[in-house]
Amino acid sequence: MTPQEPRLTHTAPEVYATDIVLPNQTNGHGTMFGGEVMALMDKTAAVAALRFCRRAVVTASSERIDFRTPIHPSEIIEARARVIHVGRTSMIVRIHIFAEHPLRGDRRLCTTGYFSMVALDERRQPCAVPLLQLDDDEARAEWVIGEDIRRGIKARQA
Ligand SMILES: CC(C)(COP(=O)(O)OP(=O)(O)OC[C@H]1O[C@@H](n2cnc3c(N)ncnc32)[C@H](O)[C@@H]1OP(=O)(O)O)[C@@H](O)C(=O)NCCC(=O)NCCS
Repeated sequence: MTPQEPRLTHTAPEVYATDIVLPNQTNGHGTMFGGEVMALMDKTAAVAALRFCRRAVVTASSERIDFRTPIHPSEIIEARARVIHVGRTSMIVRIHIFAEHPLRGDRRLCTTGYFSMVALDERRQPCAVPLLQLDDDEARAEWVIGEDIRRGIKARQA
């Protein structure tokens, strides 16, 4: 990319993925294994990044992940992901995981995490992503979180 290359501005769609927790996804406590939760987060983050930039993407890092409450077998889980911040070639994606009781329908926020995804061109080199359009207060508030995460990434790279 040259400094003059124009970058389009896009809004970032919220991406949803739904699953149900099977017994083989649980740990010794009988709750959902953290690695399984992270795999769902990573996949949903990749779809959110793909839909935003329409480029091949790789996960560069998993950032803050907070496991707030356990998830139980037979619960319906829903991942919600959105690109909340962009650099030149990287995107910070926020992922919430909700669990829903399959019979009562009540739901709760269980996990929140942030992933850094990088767009790649045909030569598998990092390439520029669109600029992010911030449409509302929530998007503007999440941008500030993303900026903080990006500062942490850049500090590690320095
Ligand atoms: C991620 C990767 C493409 C970065 O390549 P690189 O040559 O270091 O690229 P650069 O130094 O030019 O950095 C490119 C962008 O990646 C970001 N980045 C690089 N390493 C990072 C890391 N460890 N964590 C978060 N972001 C990172 C940079 O901040 C930069 O973002 P910006 O353009 O928005 O400022 C490369 O390290 C890679 O391919 N890693 C393996 C990815 C992978 O296998 N993931 C698992 C399966 S999907």
